[in-house]
Amino acid sequence: MFTGTGGTDAVRLTAVRKVYGRRGNEVVALDDVTTAFGRGTFTAIMGPSGSGKSTLLQCAAGLDQPTSGSVVLEDSELSTMTETELTELRRDRVGFVFQAFNLLPVLTVEQNVTLPLRLAGRSPARGRVASVLEQVGLGERRRHRPAELSGGQQQRVAIARALITEPAVIFADEPTGALDTRTARDVLDLMRSSVRQTGQTIVMVTHDPVAASYADRVLFLADGRVVGELHSPTADAVAERMTRLGAYSDEARRAPAAGGQR
Ligand SMILES: Nc1ncnc2c1ncn2[C@@H]1O[C@H](COP(=O)(O)OP(=O)(O)OP(=O)(O)O)[C@@H](O)[C@H]1O
Ligand SMILES: [Mg+2]
Repeated sequence: MFTGTGGTDAVRLTAVRKVYGRRGNEVVALDDVTTAFGRGTFTAIMGPSGSGKSTLLQCAAGLDQPTSGSVVLEDSELSTMTETELTELRRDRVGFVFQAFNLLPVLTVEQNVTLPLRLAGRSPARGRVASVLEQVGLGERRRHRPAELSGGQQQRVAIARALITEPAVIFADEPTGALDTRTARDVLDLMRSSVRQTGQTIVMVTHDPVAASYADRVLFLADGRVVGELHSPTADAVAERMTRLGAYSDEARRAPAAGGQR
């Protein structure tokens, strides 16, 4: 088991503020957020709709620029980087997984997974592709196309595609949002094991307390601010905290993993 490296964080945000819109019509999406994601840790981010979760991921990943404050990814201060450097950083050091799997239907599993490398003009080491596909449990499916796979399997392809470059961090925005309870659990198990076994760092936005309970830590956001955290969370503790935040809507209560499959 991976035991973590002492010292540096994979990503550190200090006093990050993000304001959208013009003067007189401003939306403060992030309001003085300071937090860090340690190497080899799995963090869940929760909070009501509009609380700034996706904005936090985008700022932390160099996809969007904070209005003020600092984001340091490994040893790079993002605000001092050029657009070209940021593009390279996003390509080489960051992985993304979204609710929609975003696989290319005409490509095989293997071609989808290796696409980021090939776009970067690199050829993937043969053994690396096989081992990543093995890791996500799709070693036998490498020649299949996305349409021939279940939703959970497609999301595992997307995770393999994120893992292939061995990024400093994988950011996942509601990766299990489109999956039923059982396939969601497979995907969460996979993410957790990639943290435990290879020391991958993962930051995942979710609305589901059960999904959050797979993480080492849950960070709660409300109105663009960090309003609390839980370590070694249980689903019940997460749900209870969300209720106290007034954030645990009927919709969340009906979520498959929390309320059972329908
Ligand atoms: N490009 C944008 N322009 C203007 N306002 C934006 C933009 N992106 C986000 N916002 C606003 O910033 C706030 C935070 O949005 P964000 O998407 O980060 O919320 P979220 O927590 O991810 O919500 P959800 O759970 O619904 O996905 C919201 O009020 C949103 O309307
Ligand atoms: Mg969002």
